[in-house]
Amino acid sequence: MAFLQTKKLLKRFGGVSAVDHVSLSFEGGKVTALIGPNGSGKTTFINVVTGILPMDGGTVVVSDDVELSSVRPQDIAALGMTRTFQSVRVIEQISVLDNILFVLTERNVWGALFERHTKLHLDAAEDVLRRVGLWEKKDALGEELSYGQRKLLEIARAISMRSKVYFFDEPFAGLFPEMRTTVGTCIKELRDSGSAVVLVEHDMDIVRNLADHCYVLDSGRLLAEGTPAQVLAEPAVVEAYLGK
Ligand SMILES: Nc1ncnc2c1ncn2[C@@H]1O[C@H](COP(=O)(O)OP(=O)(O)OP(=O)(O)O)[C@@H](O)[C@H]1O
Ligand SMILES: [Mg+2]
Repeated sequence: MAFLQTKKLLKRFGGVSAVDHVSLSFEGGKVTALIGPNGSGKTTFINVVTGILPMDGGTVVVSDDVELSSVRPQDIAALGMTRTFQSVRVIEQISVLDNILFVLTERNVWGALFERHTKLHLDAAEDVLRRVGLWEKKDALGEELSYGQRKLLEIARAISMRSKVYFFDEPFAGLFPEMRTTVGTCIKELRDSGSAVVLVEHDMDIVRNLADHCYVLDSGRLLAEGTPAQVLAEPAVVEAYLGK
């Protein structure tokens, strides 16, 4: 079942169509990889679907066939979507634990800092921080974390949203092997719990290992789709990667 679809989604920057009439479908319980050479439109696609950038044409279809010709970023949680960013974003001045409680309590940052939390929230925060291996770091400030630890915290924040659809933009990039294994496990757990996971990834070993379905973008257009084995065997896909 498709949790999210795009229909002829279009995003232009000046004369260039960075996302060029792209129609994709993302199913629950599946990892769908979005691959393609640098500059092929993967991040722009996510930015448009999650309302960071306005769309210039086409629609986003969310569950129950609600067809949207605009998406506001403040509405994406209510629409069942969560994303991570290619450049990491965590709240630097509060602790790792508060970064999670902030999401779990769905309140403002002052609420996360000063309210007494229920045991439920604290247990949920401990669970997610243990899953990404950051429980020992719970009292460290966001700014004290290494690059890899920040990426894991961002993923923990995303998991805490309990969304239907997760967009992960290069979650493995720049991570040590042990952290990559942790991220892979988190993605599999989200898939197994029935969410739709959209994974932007350049490492084809990871794509082969994790993705149920692949879409290949090239110059903003959908070039190929299928299982990892199918798309990676297509001459047009090989050429798109080698030609850049
Ligand atoms: N804010 C922007 N203003 C103008 N052009 C942009 C902007 N963002 C992206 N582009 C252009 O849109 C195209 C697609 O870029 P995008 O970042 O979506 O590619 P990508 O597939 O995510 O690449 P990478 O694998 O390097 O992350 C590129 O030509 C890029 O230069
Ligand atoms: Mg990108």
